[in-house]
Amino acid sequence: MIGKWISFEGGEGSGKTTLIEGLVEKLEERNLPYLVTREPGGVPVAEKIREILLEKTDSPMDPMTEAILFAASRRQHLVEKVLPALEEGKIVLMDRFVDSSVVYQGYARGLGMERIKALNEFATEGRLPLITFYLDIDPEKGLERIRKNKRTMNRLDYENLLFHKKIREGYQLLCQKEQRLQCISADKGPRELLEEVWQIIQSIL
Ligand code: TMP
Repeated sequence: MIGKWISFEGGEGSGKTTLIEGLVEKLEERNLPYLVTREPGGVPVAEKIREILLEKTDSPMDPMTEAILFAASRRQHLVEKVLPALEEGKIVLMDRFVDSSVVYQGYARGLGMERIKALNEFATEGRLPLITFYLDIDPEKGLERIRKNKRTMNRLDYENLLFHKKIREGYQLLCQKEQRLQCISADKGPRELLEEVWQIIQSIL
């Protein structure tokens, strides 16, 4: 693997999308080859699974079904898009990866972080990014940002505040356990956040 694999994690409204857009501008200015991609989705099979996962319907989804679907979508996206880009030497900026499942399904849904980690190790054959930025924000502020930006709410956004608080707790726990995760406060302006993250990325490029 010769490219550089970087992933971004965070609760709703943490500013991942804006941050990634800013990083893309920086990479383009420097003519660096990159791929931006998001989970769940990124390739046709995985996008179809995304629709099932995020569609707001009246029929409940079993938490383990949800976890397995996320892992399946991840697998397809990884082999079809991410690994080839890394082989080509690209910088891969990835909006969410395994940590999202460990926190959302493992911690917040209560399936167990270790269990979900094991499921995903199987799905990805243990492949992990070089570095993962976790954008930490108070969920009340994050959800307020979503409302202000009028982004369409998905099935998981509709979970109650307690769920979103658990998400933050789960990520903070994971940051203590895994050195790969860099916990960055996202309670600041987008420009400032971008410069902070870019400094770190430059040090690994
Ligand atoms: P996003 O496109 O806003 O990041 O939305 C994706 C949603 O899916 C978000 O609420 C987080 C959730 N999610 C999981 O629950 N588990 C996962 O493994 C991933 C990748 C996302």
